[in-house]
Amino acid sequence: MNPPLRYAVFGHPISHSLSPQIHQDFARQFGIALEYTAIDAAPAGFEAAVRAFFAGGGHGANVTLPHKAAAYALADVRSLAAERAGTANVLTRLPDGRLAAHNTDGAGLVRDITERHRVDLRGHTALLLGAGGAARGVAWNLLEADVATLTIVNRSPAAADALADAIGDPARAHTRYWEDLAGIGSYDLIVNATSAGVLGQDLDLPFSLAGARALCYDLSYGPAAAGFLAWARAAGARYALDGLGMLVETAADAFELWHGKRPDTDPVYERLRGRH
Ligand code: ATR
Repeated sequence: MNPPLRYAVFGHPISHSLSPQIHQDFARQFGIALEYTAIDAAPAGFEAAVRAFFAGGGHGANVTLPHKAAAYALADVRSLAAERAGTANVLTRLPDGRLAAHNTDGAGLVRDITERHRVDLRGHTALLLGAGGAARGVAWNLLEADVATLTIVNRSPAAADALADAIGDPARAHTRYWEDLAGIGSYDLIVNATSAGVLGQDLDLPFSLAGARALCYDLSYGPAAAGFLAWARAAGARYALDGLGMLVETAADAFELWHGKRPDTDPVYERLRGRH
């Protein structure tokens, strides 16, 4: 019998990662045996750890904070989704040994909203908070989901302008200043792509941002999302969602890329939701 295929998730810290469990749950759906480990690599040792993993027979890796930009940089080839985000959450060893970078974050976010929560984003006015790696990973997918407008607001305006320029769709995607948030009206979709929650910081957002049908979505989950979700509920948002569903969907895309099979995400999501 062949040894099980080897996969891993790289992050720092990584001990609470749900990815090993999600991939094992998916694998069980198909009777696939795989090894999936969590590897804690500090930024200085990330590239060496990745290369050692693949040199040692690893097939694929998920990459999470703070390594997504470094994963993109070290790859030999990059998908369009990775290219436009400038970050990667999936690395795959190609048959010729080269490493391919891909980013499944935006697709996972949109699928979680539109398929799991059954909210049609077409025509929504969208507000994207943040312009770092996480924001770049989802911005194009929101536009592809046919939001009417995408307003990008970042604490440092230069990064928001750079993202809007990279998108190059001035009729729909534009920027506003963080200082003006109280005066820019309300939105149908508000995506928190800042790292404030992870850093334990409060965003101090005005309630006026959340419109009557507002869907507020934090890309993180657990304690990091708690502050934004509490704000969304207090503001009267119709939906206040964390990124747990997105995490499961992004994992499903990686799984399909590696195994050629589409897992059923609902039972895995429901089980994790029961605990988070
Ligand atoms: P990530 O990969 O999580 O996106 P990142 O690329 O470092 O990490 O980007 C972090 C984002 O969160 C940035 O948009 C950052 O704003 P700045 O560009 O002004 O630094 C945003 N951010 C972090 N802490 C924040 C806070 N307390 N308030 C508002 N925005 C914050």
